[in-house]
Amino acid sequence: MTTKHKTLTQFLVEQQYNDACIPEQLRMLIEVVAGACQRISSVVNRGAVNDLLGNLSSENVQGEVQKKLDVISNDILLDASAWGGHLAALASEEMETIHRIPKEYTAGEYLLVYDPIDGSGNIDVNGVVGTIFSVLRTPDSASAREVTEQDFLQPGRQQVAAGYTVYGAQTILVLTVGNGVFGFTLDRELGTWLLTHDRMEIPAQTREFAINMSNRRHWAPPVQRYVDELVAGQPGPRGNDFNMRWIASMVGHVHSILIRGGVFLYPWDVRNKERGGRLRLMYEASPLGMIVEQAGGQATDGLQRLLDIQPTGLHQRVPVILGSWEEVERIKRYHGEEAVSVGRKGDAPNLQ
Ligand code: F6P
Repeated sequence: MTTKHKTLTQFLVEQQYNDACIPEQLRMLIEVVAGACQRISSVVNRGAVNDLLGNLSSENVQGEVQKKLDVISNDILLDASAWGGHLAALASEEMETIHRIPKEYTAGEYLLVYDPIDGSGNIDVNGVVGTIFSVLRTPDSASAREVTEQDFLQPGRQQVAAGYTVYGAQTILVLTVGNGVFGFTLDRELGTWLLTHDRMEIPAQTREFAINMSNRRHWAPPVQRYVDELVAGQPGPRGNDFNMRWIASMVGHVHSILIRGGVFLYPWDVRNKERGGRLRLMYEASPLGMIVEQAGGQATDGLQRLLDIQPTGLHQRVPVILGSWEEVERIKRYHGEEAVSVGRKGDAPNLQ
């Protein structure tokens, strides 16, 4: 069978040779990750047929009950990536600490960070889930010693590649190597990823937002103000009706934003004050932030660009607001105005 679409391999080879955007080791690493995601897609797809739904008795480092598919998908990525010679170490949302490449394998120059199944609460109900990944360069200072957890703690702007797959009605892999955003659909008959979404761009304006409304009373004032104005619709201060969605899968929402625009918020709330937010900086916010920026959108915690946050721990959490440029700009402005007005009263701003 032939196809008019470019394969992922062809695309990556062109990026390597024609556009000189990626070195060979990074190209091979991305292919390995894409292959692992293809396997995860099959496993997700078989679900109950292979008795893969439901929880395990274990908890992950975040204290969350692990789903069978969380652990299986984590192992698929680990097994696929460990021996290729591209990586020095890996870190996963499902593992407490980093995994160094075993001594019997050649170590490479990259660090892989991933969330094997994002939105895992959706697994049992056949909702949208996905895999998120991020690639960092091993710092030069680590060349003569073992890689440590500290080596992973790099701000998101230093990522050399980021991507996600979304296992929905179709399985799609979305990738950036810092040169735009490209989407590849899995063709199961050909057994390969095909470039179906060339240079994805997020529309700057939108009338769609995604937030878990049940948390409204716990949000900081700028987020309450923003969402209340949207919900007020045409008679309200925005003078327009807005549409809301919540599918409880960040990767699913980000994909929708890339296709037709929108804004996604998982803001700070009083209950997650101590831990900084709900979503993880390194496994979710940074890679998806890079993709959103590369597609022309913005990604912030309300006050700071997500990609500028210096991680202090592998499993650190942050507030996340991302999507269409103009809406995110407005939300940033509301946070700024709140900080100024609280500052005038002499109180410490309690925005996150
Ligand atoms: O962090 C995992 C995650 O599943 C995100 O993908 C999603 O946005 C969020 O949690 C769902 O949260 P809630 O339980 O509030 O719907």
